[in-house]
Amino acid sequence: MQYPRHAAVLAGVGGWLPPRVVDNHELSQRLDTSDEWIRTRTGIRQRHIAAPGESTVDMAVRAGGRAIRSAGMTEVDALVLATATPDQVCPGSAPQVASGLGLGGIFALDVNAVCSGFVYALATAAGLIATGVAGRVLVIGSDTFSTLVHPDDRSTVPIFGDGAGAVVLRAGEPDEPGALGPFDLHSEGELADLLVVPAGGSKQRTSADPHDYFLSMQGTRVFRLANARMAESTRAVLDQAGLSVHEVDRFVGHQANVRILQAVAKQLGLPPERLVVNIERTGNTSAASIPLALADACCDGSLRSGHLVVLSAFGAGLTWGSTVLRWPDIKLSE
Ligand code: COA
Repeated sequence: MQYPRHAAVLAGVGGWLPPRVVDNHELSQRLDTSDEWIRTRTGIRQRHIAAPGESTVDMAVRAGGRAIRSAGMTEVDALVLATATPDQVCPGSAPQVASGLGLGGIFALDVNAVCSGFVYALATAAGLIATGVAGRVLVIGSDTFSTLVHPDDRSTVPIFGDGAGAVVLRAGEPDEPGALGPFDLHSEGELADLLVVPAGGSKQRTSADPHDYFLSMQGTRVFRLANARMAESTRAVLDQAGLSVHEVDRFVGHQANVRILQAVAKQLGLPPERLVVNIERTGNTSAASIPLALADACCDGSLRSGHLVVLSAFGAGLTWGSTVLRWPDIKLSE
């Protein structure tokens, strides 16, 4: 059988943040922390937090609708949802997102690669397009990490925020603007315990310790590994594409900590002004962070048509990966 071979071309982008903003001052009233510590150690000033009952699916529907309208489309053939915080442990949330968008019936799949989920989901969608399974794929990153951090844990609460971001990919030619370049994707399951929610899954269904149902993080080790892996992966993807770091106009890294982004840029020899940074107002939104940063940078004009853009992520699993594209002419939509 002859499979059609198509490139996946980015055609639309959209983001959505829940309205409630929690700034560092508000957090420091209930946790043993300070605005100064959070700002200087992470670059975060505030994060958006979902209202009770507002879920990953709700946010994904909002961001997904914006991306579809930004692409000038009314429907897609498939939906890939990157999330580590699905509405329920079972089933996956993607079918509910499709129904929420009035697209019930389409292929709808969850991808859980945590903070690398969006880059993994892009690769999954590109595969659907390359094999002719779908011609238009909505890729959404949506996470509600406020439900996964223990409210009293000062080492995780300040870092994470909620939100969703999305892009539409369509079948196209490898040399047109927006075509996703090669991918570099990796995992290291031996280090799963560095960022883990110990209980609630099949290995430990229940626990007497309530903390086991929340995220436990070895921050300093994660910090060092994120620095190294994102830099390595960026070099690898640029090598595969036959490009050099000097040609990169915008580096859109996972927004986990501004110091990680700055350290990656330093290792790569990339001028800091080429970093896209929006973590100060969003915190770490996990799978949503890269598409939200794309939507923000597109909106404020720092990401423009023709820019060579690297997307690079690192997250629990461990997982990490990168891809590259030439930014197309994209119009945002409400
Ligand atoms: N407010 C005030 N003090 C805090 C604090 C907070 N919110 N959180 C931790 N501290 C304290 C620690 O207890 C420690 O105190 P001690 O020296 O008395 O033991 C001190 O600050 C330094 O902690 P440390 O963990 O060494 O700081 P750090 O420089 O590594 O920064 C992180 C902590 C979490 C900001 C940083 O490690 C990080 O960003 N890691 C990556 C996290 C991440 O990206 N996770 C998601 C991956 S996708």
